[in-house]
Amino acid sequence: MLKTTIFGLSALALMSLCTSGLAADFLADRHAANKVQCSGCHVETPPKLAVPTAQCQKCHGSYKDLAEKTKNLKPNPHYTHMLDQPCEECHRAHEPSVNMCASCHKLDIKVP
Ligand code: HEC
Ligand code: HEC
Ligand code: HEC
Ligand code: HEC
Repeated sequence: MLKTTIFGLSALALMSLCTSGLAADFLADRHAANKVQCSGCHVETPPKLAVPTAQCQKCHGSYKDLAEKTKNLKPNPHYTHMLDQPCEECHRAHEPSVNMCASCHKLDIKVP
């Protein structure tokens, strides 16, 4: 009896893990999968507002650091004439991210 209960519980836990895995499609979900919870990004608890760019940079570094990571891309999305714009101009956490360059250029950039 006990055995079945434990099995039942872990099967349930596994199932919810799988469903949350499937639902994990936006940037915030992928952060959760990397153990960054709501309070890792949101300064206030509970979260109400957008996240300041400085908060993203606490973990990801400066635009200079980011540009180094994406230096093989042309154009480099982190080194442009738009300079140090807020991350959320492109990266959205709870909805699909945005290629802000496309508002002026025909540039096919996929933003994670
Ligand atoms: C990667 C950093 C990050 C994580 C992790 C994150 N958020 Fe957010 N959140 C943002 C950003 C950026 C915005 C601004 C809107 C957007 O980009 O979707 C935002 C906006 C919000 C808002 C304001 C409503 C809105 O859409 O503008 C709420 C509420 C919120 N988040 C709740 C949560 C909760 C609850 C969690 C944990 C389950 C969470 N967030 C995890 C970055 C994050
Ligand atoms: C508490 C630390 C932390 C904060 C704050 C944080 N991140 Fe992350 N981020 C991570 C970790 C950990 C990963 C996964 C490992 C990696 O790719 O570096 C990640 C991954 C990413 C990725 C690659 C994800 C992918 O699916 O390809 C992007 C883009 C990103 N973060 C953007 C942001 C933005 C924008 C913000 C602010 C709204 C932010 N992060 C805030 C820790 C953080
Ligand atoms: C002009 C749009 C744009 C802006 C603004 C932008 N990013 Fe990105 N970012 C991208 C794109 C596009 C990629 C995907 C690069 C690739 O395909 O490898 C990316 C990738 C990343 C990655 C994953 C890098 C890696 O390969 O490990 C991180 C982390 C990240 N961005 C963080 C940030 C943070 C933090 C900010 C704000 C300080 C920011 N980005 C601003 C477009 C942008
Ligand atoms: C508000 C409109 C606007 C946005 C948004 C914009 N650009 Fe531009 N961009 C221009 C204009 C105007 C020029 C100069 C005229 C030209 O060469 O087309 C330019 C020039 C360029 C050039 C030519 C070389 C240079 O630096 O002069 C590149 C490459 C470029 N943009 C990439 C980008 C990228 C990548 C993004 C997204 C991060 C972006 N642009 C966002 C308007 C914009």
